[in-house]
Amino acid sequence: MSLIYEGKAKRVYETDNPDQVRVEFKDSATAFNGQKKAEIPGKGIVNAAVTTRLYGWLQDHGIATHFIEQLDDRNLLVDKLTMVQLEVVVRNWVAGSLHQRTGIPEGTTMDEPIIEFYYKNDDLGDPLLNEDHIRLLGAASPDLVARLRQEALRINQVLKPFFLQRGIVLVDFKLEFGWDAMGELKLGDEISPDTCRLWDQSSGERLDKDRFRRDLGRVEEAYQEILKRVMS
Ligand code: C5P
Repeated sequence: MSLIYEGKAKRVYETDNPDQVRVEFKDSATAFNGQKKAEIPGKGIVNAAVTTRLYGWLQDHGIATHFIEQLDDRNLLVDKLTMVQLEVVVRNWVAGSLHQRTGIPEGTTMDEPIIEFYYKNDDLGDPLLNEDHIRLLGAASPDLVARLRQEALRINQVLKPFFLQRGIVLVDFKLEFGWDAMGELKLGDEISPDTCRLWDQSSGERLDKDRFRRDLGRVEEAYQEILKRVMS
């Protein structure tokens, strides 16, 4: 079946059903808007399995997602979505660009989670948007922004304890949403060590893509550790 789209970490293929697509998870990793590239052996298999587990868990907790079934170790069958042109980031602890933007030390806890919206636009480097910018761009209505915020917070409430029970702190993560053929808003894309910051609860060790971004070493081992704990 023909390729519809190739992204940095995934390929999307047509299926016999026009309302469904197959997503193949690659081992390619990129960071800093594609400036840094590498292969992380086995990453695609980890991310497909972790996404399958987490989306199953979310669906069991009443969250609508695009996930239908895992076809093989790298391929998921999902609903075809028309994507909202925003990335939604949820933060429980200060890290990454929030640390850079505010100077607040990494690892500072926050009383309430923070939600941020980023414009899905590679040419612009996915800039941070406030709600006035979103309205100016017509990227989402105020109602949709409110729904995305509410949905992201619900997902956070379901995922935080899931990870904590496995000795992992969910520091922050990125979500993408879209509409299926029936017009239902669903969680799309993936949730994996590529799209989350996951810290070991006792040692603080980074078990996510920051190992690649920051050249911390033992990248494959960290992904395998997350796979092991998430499947338990
Ligand atoms: O870099 P920053 O601190 O803004 O990232 C916040 C979270 O969103 C991190 O978990 C990161 O992995 C994720 N993210 C992502 N894709 C992007 C930008 C951020 O998965 N394009």
